[in-house]
Amino acid sequence: INNGVGITPPMGFNTWNHFACDIDENLAISTMDKMISLGLSDVGYEYFNLDDCWMASERNAKGELVSDSKRFPSGLKYLSDYAHKNGLKFGAYECMGTETCQGYPGSYGHYAQDAQTFADWGLDYIKMDWCHTSDPELNPRLVYAELRDALNKTGRQIFFSICEWGEDSPYLWGKKTGNSWRTFLDIQCSWVSVEVCVDRLMEISKYAGEGGWNDPDMLEIGNGCLSHDEEVSHFALWSITAAPLIIGCDLNSIPDSSLEILKNTEMIAVNQDKGSVPGDCIYDLYPKQIWTRKLSDGSVAVVILNKNIFSLDFEITWEQIGLSCKTVSKLRDLVEHTTHTNVANGWTENGLKSHAVKMFRAYC
Ligand code: GLA
Repeated sequence: INNGVGITPPMGFNTWNHFACDIDENLAISTMDKMISLGLSDVGYEYFNLDDCWMASERNAKGELVSDSKRFPSGLKYLSDYAHKNGLKFGAYECMGTETCQGYPGSYGHYAQDAQTFADWGLDYIKMDWCHTSDPELNPRLVYAELRDALNKTGRQIFFSICEWGEDSPYLWGKKTGNSWRTFLDIQCSWVSVEVCVDRLMEISKYAGEGGWNDPDMLEIGNGCLSHDEEVSHFALWSITAAPLIIGCDLNSIPDSSLEILKNTEMIAVNQDKGSVPGDCIYDLYPKQIWTRKLSDGSVAVVILNKNIFSLDFEITWEQIGLSCKTVSKLRDLVEHTTHTNVANGWTENGLKSHAVKMFRAYC
């Protein structure tokens, strides 16, 4: 949607993947502080988002949402002020149904009222989930549009994240309704799940672009379930597909190697490239998968993924990845941070490790 936000994919942090319902005000404050002190805000991560479970179990007498008085005693307005004072943005979570996925009050029957509450609290991002929507009146295309209109009416610019798990082909209608739409069920902390989530993006890149993005779900980097190479591959794939880069680990104990991946500014630049369509899969025959993205400066980004448990030897030609020149004047390796000049015809690689990627940016 043309609401002035989501011009490039959103970058930030969300509590769900690591903390689930175990969240409180101290975690919010310490995580925002870490986003700054670890240098994450410097490279573009700007949203701090609370996921499910921030609410009290009942609305107040006026029917308004309130935060849990024990875990969030100062309220969400206080936290959004804290974010803004520190140069960050602040987001939260609600659900289109009668209850959230964890059983807290849902927005159904309160869309306009809740949109106003979000604006009054100074939210910059709202994720709207899809649990408890069995009422047949709840057609996702219609109710998400209703909430979009309610958000627009408040006059506050709020990134609108649609989370209906790809059920009703949201890539077909998401761009007129929200700033991003989930393309599948929840990511799990495992390599298989990373592969499944990214496979769902095949052939739908053309539906995304400025203001509206395919969302394969949040990052599992730093959560201890992926090898180093798998974490790099996860980030490379989310970068080339222009997916939201929403960190989902504990920033108070993130391993240095994971932090370094999240701060790979050359991959981030591919993710945040302005005015170009997201990357798409151009080759998918096990064990090799190739994604390419044409970038706005005429260069092409490429990710070659080895899905095998064994290492892979491969060859790609410049023609195959959509370059018109015979010789690439500059080939930048976005994993190794090395540059090769005047590379003719293509690239040959021997021994790409299991679940690893080669990621290049090639200039004619
Ligand atoms: C759903 C969403 C998740 C998360 C949980 C919270 O499963 O898809 O991303 O928000 O609800 O309960």
